[in-house]
Amino acid sequence: MTTEPAANAVPDLDRTRQLEMYRRALRVMPGGTDSNFRAWGESTIYVDRGKGGTVWDIDGNEFIDLRMGYGPVILGHGDERVDDFVNDRMRRGVSFSLTSEDEVQAMELLCELTGWVDQARMTVSGTEATMHAMRIARAYTGREKIVKFEGQYHGVHDYALISVGPDDMSELGDAEAPVALAWGRGIPGAVAETIIPARYNNLEFLRQLFERQGHEIAAIIVEPVLGNAQGIMPMPGFHQAMRALTQEFGILLIFDEVKTGFRFARGGAAEYFGITPDLATFAKAMGNGYPAAAFGGRAEVMSVLPDKVSHGGTYAGNRIAAAAAVKTLTILKETNALETIHATGRLIQAGLREVLNPKGLPYHFTGHPSMFGIMFREEEAREYRDWATTDHELYDAIALGMHARGAMPEPDSREPWFLCEAHAGAGDYVDRIVTIFSDSLDAALEARAHAAPPPTPHGGMSSPSAG
Ligand SMILES: Cc1ncc(COP(=O)(O)O)c(C=O)c1O
Repeated sequence: MTTEPAANAVPDLDRTRQLEMYRRALRVMPGGTDSNFRAWGESTIYVDRGKGGTVWDIDGNEFIDLRMGYGPVILGHGDERVDDFVNDRMRRGVSFSLTSEDEVQAMELLCELTGWVDQARMTVSGTEATMHAMRIARAYTGREKIVKFEGQYHGVHDYALISVGPDDMSELGDAEAPVALAWGRGIPGAVAETIIPARYNNLEFLRQLFERQGHEIAAIIVEPVLGNAQGIMPMPGFHQAMRALTQEFGILLIFDEVKTGFRFARGGAAEYFGITPDLATFAKAMGNGYPAAAFGGRAEVMSVLPDKVSHGGTYAGNRIAAAAAVKTLTILKETNALETIHATGRLIQAGLREVLNPKGLPYHFTGHPSMFGIMFREEEAREYRDWATTDHELYDAIALGMHARGAMPEPDSREPWFLCEAHAGAGDYVDRIVTIFSDSLDAALEARAHAAPPPTPHGGMSSPSAG
């Protein structure tokens, strides 16, 4: 007699080769990977390949990819339009430390699509882009302090790693007087002192801060939505009021569009929210996964380059990144890829609503349909500190269940799901995602009803995840 597996039985994933790889990698790489954000102990994933919206690990397990490399892969893995163009270009040589037409064209496209950026320059990573934007703001204003919001991630340079995303909110200090919390050791205290943490969606906090210290503040840098905290959205009018406030105090506004750029709209979150910042940073979606990034802004602010501010880089504007940006931005400009992605996100959300509503759980979607989180909480979250009062243990249990069933969101509720154009193509992605979510939710709720608290994700992931 054979026994049929229960409808929501979790398949055991074969991880034999990955465990071997983990042990091998541990000998030569701290944590067995190139990034703390991928160091998941024995659950560390070693990838083989991706195509469209699907990714395979080296044990042959197949997943619907809802991470998309933390956002850059806007069209899909292995997009032939981009890859063929890049391949063609790279045969002409990749690195000259001379400027190619592709670089010029990439920045022309960036200026055209954003509509407000007059001048821009390429970097290799979002980290470099935010670092340079901050430096330019300091040079332009002659002031040293930068305001950043708690829970926002702007990369791994010292000035960005302040008050990013601890699990324990008490580390951020008193809500009325937050402390500049360095993430990890090695960040000089003098650097941390130049960063003033602020609270997202809290205009009164900003006004008081500007009245007290506005004369010292060069810029405020903001992820237009808290992309590294489930995509918490601005309250209506928040960005407009912040724009007005910064202008009142002569403070520059930097939009960190590394996650939102060329995703929320062709002109990024600035277009989506109807804001004209002074500077902005871009990466991720501008290269469909190739390491293309840039910073840019108003001509007057950018005019501190090249004479007054240092910026360079052996690989800045390298052929591969520039070609990827040219092709990806051209596709985003000339096709309805973004509309397709947004519609797919809305379809998935509608499916998830049908699953969630009958359960009577308090929940809402955060972020944008192309990049959204699911927050189990009665009221909408307004700032990073609110994450602590979400039922993120439930989310984590669902995410782990989804992995086991063949879909891969980040196993930390702070990282949103990312969608790409290929999720709308062949592969029945939407229905599969909803079914996998539904089975994983049922299993998580059943486990909760019967047992001790569900396991934490990967036993070690405890921070916003970024690359
Ligand atoms: C908003 C934001 N800014 C900057 C960065 C840093 O970009 P990169 O990882 O390319 O250095 C990230 C990375 O996730 C990001 O999400």
